[in-house]
Amino acid sequence: MNPFTTASKILIPCPLRMVSYLRKETEELNFPIIKETRMSVETQGTLSDCMKLNLYLRTGHRVLYMLKEFKATGPEDLYENIVKIPWEEYLDVNGYFSVISSVENEFILDTRFASLKCKDAIADRMNEKFGMRPDSGPERNKAVIYLYWKDRDAAVYLDSSGDTIAKHGYRKLPFKAPLQETLACAIILASKWDKKSNFVNPMCGSGTLAIEAAMIAVNKAPGLLRGNFGFMHFKGYDKEVWEKMRWEARQKTLRQPEGKIIATDISEDAIDAAVRNATTAGVNHLIEFQVCDFKDSPVPENGGVVALNPEYGERLGEEEELEGIYREIGDFFKKKCKGYTGYVFTGNSALGKKIGLKTKRKIEFFNGKIDCRLLEFELYEGSRRQKDVI
Ligand SMILES: C[S@@+](CC[C@H](N)C(=O)[O-])C[C@H]1O[C@@H](n2cnc3c(N)ncnc32)[C@H](O)[C@@H]1O
Repeated sequence: MNPFTTASKILIPCPLRMVSYLRKETEELNFPIIKETRMSVETQGTLSDCMKLNLYLRTGHRVLYMLKEFKATGPEDLYENIVKIPWEEYLDVNGYFSVISSVENEFILDTRFASLKCKDAIADRMNEKFGMRPDSGPERNKAVIYLYWKDRDAAVYLDSSGDTIAKHGYRKLPFKAPLQETLACAIILASKWDKKSNFVNPMCGSGTLAIEAAMIAVNKAPGLLRGNFGFMHFKGYDKEVWEKMRWEARQKTLRQPEGKIIATDISEDAIDAAVRNATTAGVNHLIEFQVCDFKDSPVPENGGVVALNPEYGERLGEEEELEGIYREIGDFFKKKCKGYTGYVFTGNSALGKKIGLKTKRKIEFFNGKIDCRLLEFELYEGSRRQKDVI
């Protein structure tokens, strides 16, 4: 069976609270949604479709092509099911593969043992067919097999992403507490930004929000920045088909955003990192960078979105220091950002209240394990100033 031409289920995992954005993106790429959980969407298609999803998706973490689903009540059962999969049709005997797994059941205490059983089954099958087997180990830059096993439900996938696509490949310099690229995208997709008006990002740090906004504004596919994907290491991969997909994606990329994209930070090192990251992403010429206090950020007249991700003080004492900053964000919104929709992404709701403006929406996210909110403020003429209100 050639997975590049045979349709199967495709599972796309994402972090908690991001599934609605992933769902929308997947639908906009014309893939049907078969199922949705809190941390994944399921669609269907071939491994060639997975190539397209890897190229365009901004909020997914990996794209998994299902080979088989079955019930397993123990390690031997798992092995017997996996050894029956025709691995010789997917893997190069002279190649390399690794296994990653997500396991949660009473049959196995150590996830690594499930991965090992899966790896043994694949190696034994290949040995039986060829008298030799591909190398295996922890590297994620070749063929990757993904094992899911929750309670009695098991499924084995070809991981068409290999290394996670949560990294969009441009962040060489992280600076302080950078947002994950997929989270930055979800924040932008959750905002009211129409991709055409201005996007102002004071406190930009390593530039993730501004870089993702620039890529979204010019419709640049994140997968264009990456040279290696898991699907390249499965039998049947056709480089020409991939090159054609990349070419089509480049044709869809606009030269300039319609609005201005502005990124500022008080730290010269942050702007230095942001410029270099934007250069790697190929969007440095689309963003206006400036070293300045957030209050002095240029805010063009014709409206759009102004989005900030201030620090939110995880250590004792820091919170007090930050209260003044959050208050000043409220003043900045009120005085300089009329006609804009303001956003503050924070993991500290007490600090969020110090902004002192009425929130229109509070959108829930997780930043890693931290419960966060994207606070939305409608900044029309004469925005109401309220004491400690959100
Ligand atoms: C949490 S980091 C932002 C991380 C960013 N979202 C990213 O993905 O890299 C907060 C940033 O605010 C900047 N900052 C702190 N106080 C500032 C101020 N008064 N004016 C401008 N920037 C400030 C810091 O230099 C830091 O880069």
